[in-house]
Amino acid sequence: MTLFDSIEMLPDDPIFGLVPLFNADTRPEKINLSVGSYKDSDGKALVLTAVRKAEEKILEQQLNKEYQPIDGDPTYRHETLKLIFGESSFLVKNEGVYAAQTVGASGALRIGAEFLHQRGIKTIAVSTPTWSNHLALLGRGGLEILKYSYYDEKIHDIDFAKMCDSIRELPRNSAILLHGCCHNPTGIDPTIEQWKELSKIIKECSLVPFFDFAYQGFKEELDLDAQGIRIFAEDGHQMLVAYSYSKNFGLYGERAGALCAVTHDKEISTKVQSNIKKIIRGSYSSPSLQSARIVKTVLTTPELKSEWIEELANMRNRIFDTRNALIAKLHANGNIGDFQFMNKQRGMFGFMGLAKDQVLMLQNEHAIYMPSSGRINIAGLNPHNIVTFIEALKEVSHG
Ligand code: LMR
Repeated sequence: MTLFDSIEMLPDDPIFGLVPLFNADTRPEKINLSVGSYKDSDGKALVLTAVRKAEEKILEQQLNKEYQPIDGDPTYRHETLKLIFGESSFLVKNEGVYAAQTVGASGALRIGAEFLHQRGIKTIAVSTPTWSNHLALLGRGGLEILKYSYYDEKIHDIDFAKMCDSIRELPRNSAILLHGCCHNPTGIDPTIEQWKELSKIIKECSLVPFFDFAYQGFKEELDLDAQGIRIFAEDGHQMLVAYSYSKNFGLYGERAGALCAVTHDKEISTKVQSNIKKIIRGSYSSPSLQSARIVKTVLTTPELKSEWIEELANMRNRIFDTRNALIAKLHANGNIGDFQFMNKQRGMFGFMGLAKDQVLMLQNEHAIYMPSSGRINIAGLNPHNIVTFIEALKEVSHG
């Protein structure tokens, strides 16, 4: 047999691949700033109280474990649409938008890419930089990946003029991947005025927007964080949104996500639904049951929903305060460099402008783990490890 004889070893995933390395590291001072998952101020993974209560409610009901519909739970789908497009959204009321429950937002990106490919879209442009797994998920959906300019490392910000120019140069009928809020990895989003301008340009250039919306509630609050997407929807774009409950519900391993298609027409929504269901059935058949039960229980039980919104605010505020504490401590250690630009960053990540050799030194010499882009999970920092992190930065700093 030669089936496996010549198989090659592939490199590990640039983000998830760091977890086993971190776990195997025996240095007691080790710090994990790699995967974007929330940790509390003691460095522990957090399960939200609203989620625990929902799980108890579900257990009490002694429900069965039958298969879900191919596109998931109808209440979950409806509640997700209300979160994204607004409680009183005209689009949602009139079924001008459809949502399928998916296996996380990753499942939505993969299914969405295949759907676009079936609709005759051949290319999708992603921001420079973007989340590393976008390339695999969208590429495996059959789309060729193009790039558009986004972040300028010299100014630590979006170079908006350059971004617009590069979008204008994309081939017509391409899709364009946009981050709904809390851009991963840079933490820098367009302003409202810029979203409006982008919506106009993207329409003029006949591009199809595909939003990745994985951090709703981590920037300012639920409705405000959806403003970019709502501007595009109001401007009449036909577009897709990949949604995740991994971060805002802390449901990482439960794989709770959704793929939404904004059609502006009920009849088209029904046809889109039939197409998306066909792709899902031929992929993983149907989505997970428990994740839908947890999310819909929280979102349809007023006390649990309020509790969730409060817990979400607590996570957001801890990250915000930690970022500020980091900037202040770096400032006090002026010789490391000026990191005031990080004040503008929002969401789980900090983009410090670290070079690859610094990232490697932090890992090898100081047991501090982060992807090679130098992106740090701010939620991985806490009062117990922040000084260790700063001391290590001092040692690897070029300044
Ligand atoms: C991240 O960017 O760290 C998270 O979205 C987790 C992942 O799947 O990579």
